[in-house]
Order: sequence, then C-alpha cells, then structure tokens
Amino acid sequence: MRVDILTLFPGMFAPVLGESILRIAQEKGRVEFHLHDLRAYGEGTRRNVDDRPYGGGPGMVLMCGPVFRAVEAIEREAGGRARRVLTSPQGRLLTHDLALGLAGEGRLLIICGHYEGYDERIPLGLGAEEVSIGDYVLTGGELAAMVIVDAVVRLTPGVLGDEESSQRDCFAQGLLGYPQYTRPAEFAGMKAPEALLSGDHARVAEWRAAETRLRTAQRRPDLLMRRARIAVADLTGRKDGP
Ligand code: ADE
Repeated sequence: MRVDILTLFPGMFAPVLGESILRIAQEKGRVEFHLHDLRAYGEGTRRNVDDRPYGGGPGMVLMCGPVFRAVEAIEREAGGRARRVLTSPQGRLLTHDLALGLAGEGRLLIICGHYEGYDERIPLGLGAEEVSIGDYVLTGGELAAMVIVDAVVRLTPGVLGDEESSQRDCFAQGLLGYPQYTRPAEFAGMKAPEALLSGDHARVAEWRAAETRLRTAQRRPDLLMRRARIAVADLTGRKDGP
C-alpha cells in the first residue's frame, strides 16, 4: 500500500512513522509513506495556503488552489488516483469497519485539514471523504492522520504476525476486550482471577467471553445494540431470500 500525506507540518510525522508497527510495516515492504509539504504549492512569494472566510468571522480557511495543485502533482507522481481522505471534525467517524475498508485499498491520499477550516469545494471537487477521529477538535489534522494511518496499516494483510493478529482486536468482533492479567498472581492485595490461573482452556475461554459481554454491556451498550441490529438484518435478509 502507498500512503501519501499532504500536510503543512511534514516534520510531525517522522517520529510516529519511524517506530513500532508502522516502521516494521515499511521494513516488510507492506506500506510506503510519502510526505508532501502543502506550503510548496502555496500562492505568491509568501506561499500562502489560506485566506479569510467569505461572510466574515474569525480564523483563516484553507484555499482550494494549493490543495488541488498538490493533489494533482502527487497523483501524477504516484501514477494514478488514490482513495482521498480529508481529516475533519465534521467527517464520518473512524471505526474498525472504515479502517478495514481503507486497509483494502492499494493507495491512500490523506489531506490534513488545518486552521479553522477549509474551503468546502476541497472535499466536493476532489471527492475526498471527510473522516473524524472523534467528537472533539484538534488543532490540526496531522494527529488525526497519524491515528488513521496506524489503525489502517495494522489491518493491512501481512503487517501483523499470527501471534498479534488483528482478528483478535476487540473491535473486530464489535465488542470490547476482556481484562488481562500477568505475573504476579497477587499484587497489592489484588488477585488475578482464579479461572485464568486454572490452566483449563475451556474455562479461560468461557471467563473471557463472559467478561467481554459484561464489559461491553456496562461501558458500550451501543455496540451491543449495533450487533443486534446487524443480526436482525441478517436474519430478515435470509427469511426474505429463497
Ligand atoms: N481536525 C481537527 N479535529 C479533528 C478530528 N476530531 N478528527 C479529524 N480531524 C480533525
């Protein structure tokens, strides 16, 4: 997979892309990152990329020209159109399913939204999907782009070994993860659950499944509702079928 990232702050990415799974994925040849400085496509001698919003109001708005020019140049260099993503608090929420969909692409182009906003013709004219990493506002889209890249790359085939398979990620099942323990069996008066120390695989699996359900019901009942809706749609689909 080739990932192009268009940003005003390319220097923010090196420490994140150079460590852990993202580094290993590049070493294994599963992913390559290309960082592009939006400033290089700015206007005039000062290389401006933003301007005051029509209608007034505070802040500056990212202009179309620099972003369109950059996207065209990047895709010409990369040899074709990528799936285009624009980071934005107004976007569709990043979920496991969306990350899985993006991981299936050969090419991604992530445009980091910045300042107080961007000209609406950027997502419209470029057909870029606006993606949010949560209901809060970051100073810029760079951290959001890093979150998207991390979530996507670990789901790309061949990146994780069997041991750490993404199939075991809690959200792959649409549920939260179960509690984990390691040595010592007792710490500061707190004991690891008996079932996990029993050595009985069936008992361990049963305990984990129960804890997964309990935790999800207590903390994220919305995930259980979503699973229920999917199950109903599946069953209804089958009933209506031949
Ligand atoms: N830019 C600013 N806030 C953001 C968010 N929550 N998600 C994605 N991009 C953003």
